[in-house]
Amino acid sequence: MRMVDLILKKKQGKELTRAEVNFIVEGYTSGEIPDYQMSALLMAICCKGMKKEETANLTFALINSGEQVNLSEIKGIKVDKHSTGGVGDKVSLIVIPLVASVGIPVVKMSGRGLGHTGGTIDKLEAIEGFKTNLSREEIIHNVNAYKMAIAGQSANLIPADKKIYALRDVTATIDSVPLIAASVMSKKIAAGADAIVLDVKVGSGAFMKSLTEARELAQTMVDIGKSLNRKTIAVITDMSQPLGHEVGNANEVSEALKVLQGRGPEDLTTVALTISSYMAVLGGAFKDFHKAYKELEQIINSGLVINKFKQLVEIQGGNNEVIDDPGRLPQAKYHVKVESYQEGYVGAINTEAIGVSVMLLGAGRKRKDDLIDYSAGLTMVKKIGDKVKVGDTICLIHTNLENNKESENMVRSAYIISDTEPTPMNYIHEVIE
Ligand code: URA
Repeated sequence: MRMVDLILKKKQGKELTRAEVNFIVEGYTSGEIPDYQMSALLMAICCKGMKKEETANLTFALINSGEQVNLSEIKGIKVDKHSTGGVGDKVSLIVIPLVASVGIPVVKMSGRGLGHTGGTIDKLEAIEGFKTNLSREEIIHNVNAYKMAIAGQSANLIPADKKIYALRDVTATIDSVPLIAASVMSKKIAAGADAIVLDVKVGSGAFMKSLTEARELAQTMVDIGKSLNRKTIAVITDMSQPLGHEVGNANEVSEALKVLQGRGPEDLTTVALTISSYMAVLGGAFKDFHKAYKELEQIINSGLVINKFKQLVEIQGGNNEVIDDPGRLPQAKYHVKVESYQEGYVGAINTEAIGVSVMLLGAGRKRKDDLIDYSAGLTMVKKIGDKVKVGDTICLIHTNLENNKESENMVRSAYIISDTEPTPMNYIHEVIE
């Protein structure tokens, strides 16, 4: 088999066999297939797509590239969730303690920020001492004892995805349904989940910009989950603007704390409750979604679930004083107001540009090894549908950088001001079961 022939085959839109997909994944992981040939193949996949069986074969090949975590010592149905990536997406921070509080074992495998999207591991590391490199034994112990654990992906888990993902990030080949589906599902399955809730983001801050694409991605992932006997539900949620008001790391932790105390923004609370409810149903705590939603909403409104988050911070080595006093989280030196030059309504937000601005402020990485400034971020003072006058603050930049003109201009131009009031948007677009 020659890689060049397989690139040509995909370029012509033909289907790769299981043996060919295995050859590619094994060859690239071992270093026999160079980056330039893999890049060409990834681009061909982006342009020509993959059939259902090919995508499933790619998922298996990725899983087989590394270890699978054996979590059979954990009692009960282990649930995990995965977001396809967004801006201001701090849903996992809320979901873990909330679902664990009704007795469902939550084993959350998370990643770091990538490109314009944030990562849960980075957000949690804004809490001093919070440890995310847990061993298998620590995960099992914490989940059996407290029903929750959150860990970063270990080096041995899906090495092929790690290598391919890094290449996709720099070759404009991320936004492909089969590539995202195989990447997400291989990680969830190798990490030992019995049931998976997928948060498929759609809109200007997501990799999937249209509902049609998001639906296709959601269905593809649900099909893969089912074919591997994992209970899988995909919820398509809105990402046409950042979720909640805070984008960054420390400030996103603060906002998640507000939700856990029953005083968070409506969009974030609704999405977190929806994802949590499906997780709780798949885990067997409730018979139906509506019952679960109502109960979990009550738990949030009681403000008590904050104690479960405190416990999570404690068992993973973090300083839990930040829960009662979020002012102890890293704070930026400067808070720069971005004022509107126009009057009207916020009609749309270029959310990807917001994500890039935050990354440039230091909250994300330009390069893999960059250090993060946990205090850097934005507060989206105005969101879609809000009325603005000339001179109104639409956004606040939190930064340690002295010169912020570029970020200020970038954020201002990400806000599209229109004369007419936009129609209110749904937070949840569709659910695919
Ligand atoms: N998240 C992933 O884990 N993989 C992708 O390819 C895209 C988003």
